Amino acid sequence: MRIGKIFFYAALCAATLCLTGCGGTDVVPRDNSGTKVGVAMPSQQLLRWNRDGAYLESELRAKEFAVDVAFAGGDAVKQAGQIEEMIAEGCKVLVVSAVDSKALAPVLERAKREGVTVIAYDRLLMGTDAVDYYATFDSYSVGMLQAQTIVDRLGLAEGKGPFYLEFAAGPTEDSNAKVLFAGAMDVLRPYIEQGKLVVRSGERTQEEAAVPGWATLMAEERMKGLLAQYGEGTKIDAVLAANDSIALGVLDALKEAGYGTAGRPLPILTGQDADLPNVHALIAGEQTMSVFKDTRRLALETAKLIEAIVGSHAPEINDTQNFMNGKKVVPAHVLKGTFVDASNYKSVLVDSGYYSTVDIDGTASRALGVK
Ligand code: BGC
Repeated sequence: MRIGKIFFYAALCAATLCLTGCGGTDVVPRDNSGTKVGVAMPSQQLLRWNRDGAYLESELRAKEFAVDVAFAGGDAVKQAGQIEEMIAEGCKVLVVSAVDSKALAPVLERAKREGVTVIAYDRLLMGTDAVDYYATFDSYSVGMLQAQTIVDRLGLAEGKGPFYLEFAAGPTEDSNAKVLFAGAMDVLRPYIEQGKLVVRSGERTQEEAAVPGWATLMAEERMKGLLAQYGEGTKIDAVLAANDSIALGVLDALKEAGYGTAGRPLPILTGQDADLPNVHALIAGEQTMSVFKDTRRLALETAKLIEAIVGSHAPEINDTQNFMNGKKVVPAHVLKGTFVDASNYKSVLVDSGYYSTVDIDGTASRALGVK
Protein backbone atom coordinates (compact mmCIF):
# COMPACT_ATOMS: atom_id res chain seq x y z
CA MET A 1 0.00 0.00 0.00
CA ARG A 2 2.74 2.42 1.06
CA ILE A 3 4.91 1.37 -1.86
CA GLY A 4 1.93 1.82 -4.14
CA LYS A 5 1.49 5.32 -2.81
CA ILE A 6 5.16 6.18 -3.21
CA PHE A 7 5.07 4.82 -6.73
CA PHE A 8 1.99 6.90 -7.47
CA TYR A 9 3.67 10.13 -6.27
CA ALA A 10 6.89 9.25 -8.08
CA ALA A 11 4.94 8.71 -11.29
CA LEU A 12 3.11 11.97 -10.73
CA CYS A 13 6.40 13.85 -10.22
CA ALA A 14 7.89 12.25 -13.32
CA ALA A 15 4.83 13.25 -15.33
CA THR A 16 5.00 16.77 -13.94
CA LEU A 17 8.72 17.04 -14.66
CA CYS A 18 8.10 15.80 -18.17
CA LEU A 19 5.31 18.31 -18.65
CA THR A 20 7.48 21.12 -17.41
CA GLY A 21 10.76 19.90 -18.86
CA CYS A 22 9.73 18.48 -22.21
CA GLY A 23 6.96 20.90 -23.13
CA GLY A 24 6.97 24.33 -24.75
CA THR A 25 7.79 27.45 -22.83
CA ASP A 26 4.20 28.13 -21.81
CA VAL A 27 4.01 25.02 -19.63
CA VAL A 28 7.20 25.74 -17.71
CA PRO A 29 6.10 27.05 -14.31
CA ARG A 30 7.75 30.33 -13.50
CA ASP A 31 9.85 30.69 -10.46
CA ASN A 32 7.78 33.40 -8.81
CA SER A 33 9.79 33.50 -5.62
CA GLY A 34 11.65 36.61 -6.75
CA THR A 35 8.40 38.51 -7.12
CA LYS A 36 6.93 40.16 -4.09
CA VAL A 37 3.22 40.92 -3.90
CA GLY A 38 1.81 43.48 -1.47
CA VAL A 39 -1.72 42.79 -0.21
CA ALA A 40 -3.40 45.84 1.37
CA MET A 41 -6.66 44.95 3.12
CA PRO A 42 -8.95 47.59 4.66
CA SER A 43 -9.59 46.26 8.14
CA GLN A 44 -9.36 43.28 10.42
CA GLN A 45 -12.44 44.34 12.37
CA LEU A 46 -14.84 43.51 9.55
CA LEU A 47 -15.06 39.76 9.37
CA ARG A 48 -14.64 39.00 5.72
CA TRP A 49 -11.29 40.76 5.20
CA ASN A 50 -9.56 38.39 7.59
CA ARG A 51 -10.52 35.56 5.31
CA ASP A 52 -9.64 37.48 2.16
CA GLY A 53 -6.19 38.29 3.57
CA ALA A 54 -5.55 34.71 4.64
CA TYR A 55 -6.76 33.17 1.39
CA LEU A 56 -4.79 35.60 -0.75
CA GLU A 57 -1.66 34.89 1.23
CA SER A 58 -2.05 31.15 0.92
CA GLU A 59 -2.93 31.18 -2.80
CA LEU A 60 0.03 33.43 -3.57
CA ARG A 61 2.44 31.44 -1.44
CA ALA A 62 1.20 28.28 -3.17
CA LYS A 63 2.38 29.90 -6.40
CA GLU A 64 5.65 30.70 -4.67
CA PHE A 65 5.32 34.45 -4.57
CA ALA A 66 6.77 36.37 -1.66
CA VAL A 67 3.81 38.07 0.07
CA ASP A 68 3.39 41.03 2.38
CA VAL A 69 -0.13 41.40 3.88
CA ALA A 70 -1.20 44.53 5.76
CA PHE A 71 -4.52 45.50 7.36
CA ALA A 72 -5.27 49.22 7.65
CA GLY A 73 -7.66 49.22 10.61
CA GLY A 74 -10.21 51.22 8.63
CA ASP A 75 -7.76 54.16 8.39
CA ALA A 76 -7.24 55.52 4.87
CA VAL A 77 -4.08 57.46 5.79
CA LYS A 78 -2.54 54.41 7.41
CA GLN A 79 -3.36 52.39 4.32
CA ALA A 80 -1.61 54.89 2.04
CA GLY A 81 1.47 54.57 4.31
CA GLN A 82 1.35 50.78 4.15
CA ILE A 83 1.24 50.89 0.36
CA GLU A 84 4.18 53.37 0.27
CA GLU A 85 6.14 50.89 2.32
CA MET A 86 5.23 47.98 0.06
CA ILE A 87 6.49 49.91 -2.95
CA ALA A 88 9.67 50.87 -1.11
CA GLU A 89 10.24 47.23 -0.19
CA GLY A 90 10.15 46.24 -3.84
CA CYS A 91 6.65 44.79 -4.30
CA LYS A 92 6.07 44.37 -8.03
CA VAL A 93 2.31 43.79 -7.74
CA LEU A 94 -0.15 45.40 -5.32
CA VAL A 95 -3.54 43.95 -4.43
CA VAL A 96 -5.53 46.74 -2.84
CA SER A 97 -8.92 46.76 -1.17
CA ALA A 98 -9.27 50.42 -0.25
CA VAL A 99 -10.60 51.88 2.98
CA ASP A 100 -11.55 54.92 0.92
CA SER A 101 -11.87 54.22 -2.79
CA LYS A 102 -10.75 57.76 -3.77
CA ALA A 103 -8.02 58.40 -1.22
CA LEU A 104 -5.16 56.39 -2.68
CA ALA A 105 -4.63 58.20 -5.99
CA PRO A 106 -1.28 59.88 -5.03
CA VAL A 107 0.37 56.71 -3.72
CA LEU A 108 -0.93 54.73 -6.69
CA GLU A 109 0.65 57.29 -9.03
CA ARG A 110 3.95 56.47 -7.39
CA ALA A 111 3.29 52.74 -7.93
CA LYS A 112 2.61 53.41 -11.60
CA ARG A 113 5.80 55.48 -11.99
CA GLU A 114 7.80 52.62 -10.53
CA GLY A 115 6.22 50.04 -12.84
CA VAL A 116 4.20 48.29 -10.13
CA THR A 117 1.02 46.54 -11.32
CA VAL A 118 -2.03 47.49 -9.26
CA ILE A 119 -5.04 45.22 -8.85
CA ALA A 120 -8.12 46.67 -7.16
CA TYR A 121 -9.47 43.87 -4.99
CA ASP A 122 -13.24 43.77 -4.45
CA ARG A 123 -13.45 47.58 -4.10
CA LEU A 124 -12.74 49.60 -7.24
CA LEU A 125 -10.01 52.25 -6.91
CA MET A 126 -11.59 55.48 -8.10
CA GLY A 127 -10.31 58.62 -9.78
CA THR A 128 -6.95 57.30 -10.98
CA ASP A 129 -5.57 55.65 -14.08
CA ALA A 130 -2.93 53.97 -11.92
CA VAL A 131 -5.00 50.82 -11.59
CA ASP A 132 -4.50 47.94 -13.99
CA TYR A 133 -7.11 45.31 -13.13
CA TYR A 134 -10.10 44.75 -10.89
CA ALA A 135 -10.99 41.40 -9.24
CA THR A 136 -14.40 41.57 -7.64
CA PHE A 137 -17.82 40.26 -6.78
CA ASP A 138 -20.70 41.85 -8.61
CA SER A 139 -22.13 44.31 -6.06
CA TYR A 140 -24.96 45.38 -8.36
CA SER A 141 -26.39 41.85 -8.37
CA VAL A 142 -25.88 41.60 -4.57
CA GLY A 143 -28.16 44.64 -4.21
CA MET A 144 -30.67 43.06 -6.59
CA LEU A 145 -30.70 39.80 -4.61
CA GLN A 146 -31.32 41.71 -1.38
CA ALA A 147 -34.13 43.80 -2.88
CA GLN A 148 -35.73 40.83 -4.63
CA THR A 149 -35.96 39.06 -1.27
CA ILE A 150 -37.97 42.01 0.06
CA VAL A 151 -40.22 41.97 -3.01
CA ASP A 152 -40.81 38.22 -2.74
CA ARG A 153 -41.32 37.99 1.01
CA LEU A 154 -43.77 40.90 1.07
CA GLY A 155 -45.67 39.66 -2.01
CA LEU A 156 -45.21 43.01 -3.75
CA ALA A 157 -45.41 41.54 -7.24
CA GLU A 158 -48.80 40.11 -6.28
CA GLY A 159 -50.00 43.61 -5.44
CA LYS A 160 -49.71 43.42 -1.66
CA GLY A 161 -48.86 46.56 0.33
CA PRO A 162 -48.31 49.23 1.39
CA PHE A 163 -45.41 48.26 3.64
CA TYR A 164 -42.80 50.27 5.52
CA LEU A 165 -39.19 49.93 4.38
CA GLU A 166 -35.98 51.59 5.55
CA PHE A 167 -32.41 51.50 4.24
CA ALA A 168 -29.13 51.01 6.08
CA ALA A 169 -26.67 51.50 3.24
CA GLY A 170 -22.90 51.18 3.01
CA PRO A 171 -20.64 54.22 3.40
CA THR A 172 -20.06 56.77 0.64
CA GLU A 173 -16.28 56.19 0.58
CA ASP A 174 -16.71 52.58 -0.57
CA SER A 175 -17.37 52.29 -4.31
CA ASN A 176 -19.25 49.02 -3.79
CA ALA A 177 -21.84 50.60 -1.52
CA LYS A 178 -23.01 52.88 -4.31
CA VAL A 179 -23.22 50.10 -6.89
CA LEU A 180 -25.07 47.84 -4.47
CA PHE A 181 -27.57 50.57 -3.64
CA ALA A 182 -28.19 51.14 -7.35
CA GLY A 183 -28.89 47.42 -7.86
CA ALA A 184 -31.32 47.36 -4.95
CA MET A 185 -33.06 50.56 -6.01
CA ASP A 186 -33.56 49.35 -9.56
CA VAL A 187 -35.66 46.52 -8.12
CA LEU A 188 -37.46 48.52 -5.43
CA ARG A 189 -38.08 51.83 -7.21
CA PRO A 190 -41.30 50.79 -9.01
CA TYR A 191 -42.88 49.72 -5.72
CA ILE A 192 -41.77 52.91 -3.98
CA GLU A 193 -43.22 54.96 -6.83
CA GLN A 194 -46.52 53.04 -6.66
CA GLY A 195 -46.71 53.70 -2.91
CA LYS A 196 -46.50 49.96 -2.14
CA LEU A 197 -43.26 50.55 -0.25
CA VAL A 198 -43.17 53.57 2.01
CA VAL A 199 -39.85 54.93 3.28
CA ARG A 200 -41.21 56.85 6.22
CA SER A 201 -37.93 58.58 7.08
CA GLY A 202 -37.72 59.89 3.51
CA GLU A 203 -34.07 58.74 3.41
CA ARG A 204 -34.03 57.12 0.01
CA THR A 205 -30.54 57.83 -1.26
CA GLN A 206 -27.35 56.01 -0.40
CA GLU A 207 -25.87 59.22 1.01
CA GLU A 208 -28.84 59.75 3.35
CA ALA A 209 -28.94 56.13 4.49
CA ALA A 210 -25.16 55.53 4.70
CA VAL A 211 -23.70 53.78 7.74
CA PRO A 212 -20.13 55.06 8.30
CA GLY A 213 -17.45 52.36 8.04
CA TRP A 214 -20.04 49.57 7.64
CA ALA A 215 -19.90 49.59 11.44
CA THR A 216 -22.32 47.58 13.57
CA LEU A 217 -22.58 50.28 16.25
CA MET A 218 -23.24 53.00 13.68
CA ALA A 219 -25.94 50.83 12.12
CA GLU A 220 -27.52 50.37 15.53
CA GLU A 221 -27.50 54.15 16.03
CA ARG A 222 -29.09 54.70 12.64
CA MET A 223 -31.80 52.12 13.27
CA LYS A 224 -32.57 53.56 16.72
CA GLY A 225 -33.05 56.98 15.12
CA LEU A 226 -35.38 55.52 12.50
CA LEU A 227 -37.38 53.57 15.06
CA ALA A 228 -37.88 56.73 17.08
CA GLN A 229 -39.67 58.18 14.04
CA TYR A 230 -41.95 55.15 13.81
CA GLY A 231 -43.01 55.17 17.44
CA GLU A 232 -44.86 52.31 19.14
CA GLY A 233 -47.80 52.09 16.76
CA THR A 234 -46.19 51.63 13.36
CA LYS A 235 -44.31 48.52 12.42
CA ILE A 236 -41.34 48.42 10.05
CA ASP A 237 -41.80 45.59 7.54
CA ALA A 238 -38.38 45.46 5.88
CA VAL A 239 -34.88 46.82 6.31
CA LEU A 240 -32.45 46.70 3.43
CA ALA A 241 -29.16 46.34 5.31
CA ALA A 242 -26.26 46.50 2.87
CA ASN A 243 -24.07 43.92 4.58
CA ASP A 244 -23.88 41.61 7.55
CA SER A 245 -22.03 43.90 9.95
CA ILE A 246 -24.77 46.49 9.37
CA ALA A 247 -27.50 43.85 9.73
CA LEU A 248 -26.19 42.96 13.21
CA GLY A 249 -26.52 46.57 14.40
CA VAL A 250 -29.98 46.92 12.87
CA LEU A 251 -31.01 43.71 14.59
CA ASP A 252 -29.75 44.93 17.97
CA ALA A 253 -31.82 48.11 17.69
CA LEU A 254 -34.90 46.21 16.56
CA LYS A 255 -34.69 43.76 19.42
CA GLU A 256 -34.15 46.54 21.93
CA ALA A 257 -37.34 48.17 20.62
CA GLY A 258 -39.28 44.98 21.23
CA TYR A 259 -39.26 43.46 17.76
CA GLY A 260 -38.92 39.68 17.71
CA THR A 261 -41.36 39.21 20.60
CA ALA A 262 -44.89 37.82 20.42
CA GLY A 263 -47.14 39.93 18.23
CA ARG A 264 -44.23 42.03 16.97
CA PRO A 265 -42.33 40.00 14.36
CA LEU A 266 -38.95 41.12 13.15
CA PRO A 267 -38.96 42.80 9.74
CA ILE A 268 -37.39 41.24 6.68
CA LEU A 269 -33.67 41.90 7.05
CA THR A 270 -31.01 41.51 4.38
CA GLY A 271 -27.21 41.33 4.45
CA GLN A 272 -24.18 40.11 2.54
CA ASP A 273 -21.01 38.14 3.28
CA ALA A 274 -22.53 35.22 5.22
CA ASP A 275 -20.44 36.14 8.27
CA LEU A 276 -20.69 33.50 10.97
CA PRO A 277 -22.78 35.49 13.52
CA ASN A 278 -25.18 36.26 10.68
CA VAL A 279 -25.42 32.62 9.68
CA HIS A 280 -26.52 32.03 13.28
CA ALA A 281 -29.06 34.83 12.85
CA LEU A 282 -30.36 33.19 9.64
CA ILE A 283 -30.80 29.89 11.45
CA ALA A 284 -32.51 31.63 14.40
CA GLY A 285 -34.94 33.34 12.01
CA GLU A 286 -33.65 36.82 12.91
CA GLN A 287 -32.06 37.71 9.56
CA THR A 288 -33.84 36.78 6.35
CA MET A 289 -30.96 36.38 3.92
CA SER A 290 -27.36 37.08 3.17
CA VAL A 291 -25.23 36.85 0.04
CA PHE A 292 -22.34 34.44 0.19
CA LYS A 293 -19.24 35.71 -1.55
CA ASP A 294 -16.84 32.83 -1.78
CA THR A 295 -13.65 34.70 -0.99
CA ARG A 296 -11.64 31.52 -1.64
CA ARG A 297 -12.57 31.85 -5.31
CA LEU A 298 -11.80 35.56 -5.43
CA ALA A 299 -8.39 34.95 -3.88
CA LEU A 300 -7.70 32.16 -6.35
CA GLU A 301 -8.76 34.24 -9.37
CA THR A 302 -6.61 37.12 -8.13
CA ALA A 303 -3.59 34.85 -7.72
CA LYS A 304 -4.18 33.55 -11.26
CA LEU A 305 -4.34 37.12 -12.58
CA ILE A 306 -1.04 37.89 -10.90
CA GLU A 307 0.61 34.76 -12.21
CA ALA A 308 -0.48 35.64 -15.73
CA ILE A 309 0.72 39.24 -15.42
CA VAL A 310 4.10 38.25 -13.99
CA GLY A 311 4.49 35.55 -16.64
CA SER A 312 3.51 38.05 -19.38
CA HIS A 313 0.42 36.04 -20.36
CA ALA A 314 -3.01 37.51 -21.01
CA PRO A 315 -4.93 37.57 -17.71
CA GLU A 316 -8.44 36.06 -17.64
CA ILE A 317 -10.77 39.06 -17.81
CA ASN A 318 -14.55 38.74 -18.15
CA ASP A 319 -15.62 42.40 -18.09
CA THR A 320 -14.11 45.19 -20.14
CA GLN A 321 -17.01 47.65 -20.04
CA ASN A 322 -18.68 48.17 -16.72
CA PHE A 323 -16.05 49.49 -14.34
CA MET A 324 -15.40 53.11 -15.18
CA ASN A 325 -13.53 54.65 -12.23
CA GLY A 326 -13.75 58.26 -13.36
CA LYS A 327 -10.46 58.04 -15.26
CA LYS A 328 -10.53 54.74 -17.12
CA VAL A 329 -12.56 51.60 -17.66
CA VAL A 330 -10.77 49.01 -15.56
CA PRO A 331 -10.66 45.47 -17.01
CA ALA A 332 -12.18 43.13 -14.47
CA HIS A 333 -12.64 39.55 -13.40
CA VAL A 334 -16.11 39.47 -11.86
CA LEU A 335 -17.67 36.73 -9.73
CA LYS A 336 -21.28 36.37 -8.62
CA GLY A 337 -22.44 36.01 -5.03
CA THR A 338 -24.94 33.33 -3.95
CA PHE A 339 -28.22 33.92 -2.14
CA VAL A 340 -28.18 32.19 1.25
CA ASP A 341 -30.90 31.79 3.87
CA ALA A 342 -32.03 29.34 6.54
CA SER A 343 -33.17 26.83 3.94
CA ASN A 344 -29.92 26.47 1.95
CA TYR A 345 -27.08 27.50 4.26
CA LYS A 346 -25.97 23.88 4.73
CA SER A 347 -25.50 23.18 1.05
CA VAL A 348 -24.03 26.60 0.27
CA LEU A 349 -21.78 27.12 3.27
CA VAL A 350 -21.09 23.76 4.89
CA ASP A 351 -21.03 21.36 1.95
CA SER A 352 -18.71 23.75 0.14
CA GLY A 353 -16.33 23.56 3.11
CA TYR A 354 -16.47 27.29 3.81
CA TYR A 355 -17.69 26.65 7.37
CA SER A 356 -17.53 23.46 9.38
CA THR A 357 -20.46 22.13 11.38
CA VAL A 358 -18.47 23.11 14.47
CA ASP A 359 -18.43 26.73 13.25
CA ILE A 360 -22.14 26.61 12.64
CA ASP A 361 -22.90 25.02 16.03
CA GLY A 362 -20.54 27.26 18.00
CA THR A 363 -20.92 30.82 19.15
CA ALA A 364 -19.21 33.13 16.70
CA SER A 365 -17.44 36.20 17.98
CA ARG A 366 -18.65 39.35 16.28
CA ALA A 367 -15.17 40.74 16.21
CA LEU A 368 -13.31 37.91 14.51
CA GLY A 369 -15.59 35.12 13.37
CA VAL A 370 -12.82 33.27 11.62
CA LYS A 371 -11.44 29.85 12.23
C1 BGC B 1 -17.69 44.55 0.40
C2 BGC B 1 -18.64 43.81 1.32
C3 BGC B 1 -18.28 44.07 2.76
C4 BGC B 1 -18.06 45.53 3.04
C5 BGC B 1 -17.59 45.80 4.44
C6 BGC B 1 -17.59 45.99 0.80
O1 BGC B 1 -16.73 46.66 -0.02
O2 BGC B 1 -18.15 44.44 -0.92
O3 BGC B 1 -18.59 42.44 1.03
O4 BGC B 1 -19.31 43.62 3.59
O5 BGC B 1 -17.16 46.08 2.13
O6 BGC B 1 -16.45 45.13 4.73
